[in-house]
Amino acid sequence: MQPQNLIDAEDLARERLPRVIYDYYRSGAWDEQSLRRNREAYSEIDLLPRVLVDVSRRDASTTLLGTRITLPVLAAPTAFHRLAHPDGEIATARALASVGSIMVLSSLSTMTVEEVTATGAAVWFQLYMNKDPGRTTALVDRVVAAGCRAIVVTADTPVWGVRERDVRNGFHLPPGFGAVNLAPLDPDGEKRSRQGAGMGQAFDWMLHPALSWAELDRLCAASPVPVLLKGIARGDDAERAIAAGCAGVVVSNHGGRQLDGVPATIDTLPAVVQAVAGRGLVLVDGGVRRGTDVLKAIASGADAVQIGRPQLWGLACGGEAGVRHVFESLRKELDVAMALAGCPNLAAITPDLLRRRGRSPG
Ligand SMILES: Cc1cc2nc3c(=O)[nH]c(=O)nc-3n(C[C@H](O)[C@H](O)[C@H](O)COP(=O)(O)O)c2cc1C
Repeated sequence: MQPQNLIDAEDLARERLPRVIYDYYRSGAWDEQSLRRNREAYSEIDLLPRVLVDVSRRDASTTLLGTRITLPVLAAPTAFHRLAHPDGEIATARALASVGSIMVLSSLSTMTVEEVTATGAAVWFQLYMNKDPGRTTALVDRVVAAGCRAIVVTADTPVWGVRERDVRNGFHLPPGFGAVNLAPLDPDGEKRSRQGAGMGQAFDWMLHPALSWAELDRLCAASPVPVLLKGIARGDDAERAIAAGCAGVVVSNHGGRQLDGVPATIDTLPAVVQAVAGRGLVLVDGGVRRGTDVLKAIASGADAVQIGRPQLWGLACGGEAGVRHVFESLRKELDVAMALAGCPNLAAITPDLLRRRGRSPG
């Protein structure tokens, strides 16, 4: 049975996945307040549809950094796809190629970047900058040579957020699974991935708690492809990212997996859009599950959204076809929502379509 929507997909995936893996994918940090807020905040925004607009033809396509995409929904970087399905990141990439969107490949991919780009998908690479600048440069050179079209630096992870489900379950990578693109850079660290309990113990070796703006400045100056900064919640940080030379930012709280207690991303988006002021892309992720959520994010000023967990639910339910089904479900919902809101294209999705209840916009 095919799930009817992204929420059903999670229910089905929960039945199919081993508990430890389902928990790793779904978990948020500490009390999971931000995880819940990401979803709840979308229902706090009302839509004010326009009527008597010709919506007989709808077009949800757009262009991001020179790549044409058929719907404004990207695959957010998510770790360890082979834990959900043996075809792992290759299945996800193939699905994104057939959907006509971009896959942001996690640093913690269980398949090599070369295998993933060989699918023909448009791939951006998510980077955890290394303490050793030489290792960062080597990895950037490798992924650019493999065909990745942009680098997405994750900024919200100086240390791992504490996901207590993983600690309780003793989550670590089973034998035969690894962060294969990082292994050549740090074989000892890679071995440690198989020990410990939870991200905090098993994967500490790959983070850079002293990462500074100066290092981002240098990366932007040296990178042959555009750099985006992911994990932004504030206008001043977005401003600084643009000053560093970033081509854009991703408003994200890592799906509620890092600092618990931060606001929903749809609530921090307007301040970031205002700070960027058209000088770069603004993407947003966290809790996007419905076509109406995409509409609300675009109306709030995002150029596109990303979905994280739902691609993993799709993978667990049916590999490549399952991921494709998740994106196609969202495409259909967005198409109907655009028609009903009086929006024939993305440019027509403007802030006046929204009424925010109670929450301050920024
Ligand atoms: C299982 C899992 C693994 C993730 N791995 C990464 C990662 O390796 N790098 C990264 O920048 N973000 C990672 N994220 C965060 C996602 O990129 C994204 O910000 C988040 O999942 C969006 O929220 P959503 O799952 O509600 O759509 C991960 C999220 C999940 C759920």
